[in-house]
Amino acid sequence: MNIEIKKLTSDLAEDYVYFFDVTPHDVNIDEKKCYCITWRSNDSYAHGEAHWFPTREERRTRAIQFVRSGSLQGYLAYHGDEIVGWCNANADCQDCVNYLRSYWPIEESREGIKVKSIFCFVIAPKMQRNGVATQLVERVCKDAADDGFDYVEAYINKEFIETDHDFRGPMAMFEKCGFEVYAVRDGKVVMRKALK
Ligand SMILES: CC(C)(COP(=O)(O)OP(=O)(O)OC[C@H]1O[C@@H](n2cnc3c(N)ncnc32)[C@H](O)[C@@H]1OP(=O)(O)O)[C@@H](O)C(=O)NCCC(=O)NCCS
Repeated sequence: MNIEIKKLTSDLAEDYVYFFDVTPHDVNIDEKKCYCITWRSNDSYAHGEAHWFPTREERRTRAIQFVRSGSLQGYLAYHGDEIVGWCNANADCQDCVNYLRSYWPIEESREGIKVKSIFCFVIAPKMQRNGVATQLVERVCKDAADDGFDYVEAYINKEFIETDHDFRGPMAMFEKCGFEVYAVRDGKVVMRKALK
C-alpha cells in the first residue's frame, strides 16, 4: 500500500475538513462530526474558548481557523491524491493531556521534559488494517525525535473497543511501534516511547 504522510500545514485546511466531510467517523452520525477540534493548542483555549461547538457547520469553520492558526496539529495520510487517514499530535495541549490522562497524578512535574502527545486517529474504513495508523505513528515519532522531544505519549483504552472510542488507537499498535506502558488506571493506559 503506497501511502504518503504529510504534516498538516495551513494550506491544507480545506483538504483537511473535506476528509472529515466524506469520511464516516464518530459513530457515523453526520451531525456529530467532530473535525477533531477538541485536541488543539493551549493558546486557542486561552480566552475561555469552548472545546466543542454546537453545530457541525461551526465545528467545520472553526477547524479551518484552527488549522490555519496552527492550533490544530497532526499528520495526514495520502493514498494518491486522496486523504485516507489522520493523526492528531501536538505538544501544547495541557488540558487535553490532563483530560485523557483522567487527571492522574502520574508525575510531579514535566518541567524540562519535552513530550509530544498523540490524541486521535481517523482512518477511512476502506483503508483500515493496512498499516496506515502505524505509518502515522512512525512519522510522529521520527519528527518528534528530529525536533528534540524526549517522549511521544499516547492515551489509550486497555481493552480495544470498536466504537468511536477507538480514536485513541489500539495498544497492540503502540507496542509494535516501540511504546511501553507508563501508567495504568481504571482500564486507561498511558504509553510512552522514549526518543533519547
Ligand atoms: C483504530 C484505527 C486507528 C486503526 O488504524 P489502522 O490503520 O487500521 O491500524 P493499522 O493497520 O496500522 O493496525 C496496526 C495494529 O493495530 C491493531 N489493530 C488495528 N485495528 C484493530 C482492530 N480493529 N481490532 C484490533 N486490533 C486492531 C493490530 O494489532 C494491528 O496490527 P495487525 O493488522 O498486524 O494485526 C482505525 O481503525 C480507526 O481510525 N478507527 C476509527 C476510529 C474513530 O472512530 N475515530 C474517530 C473518532 S471521532
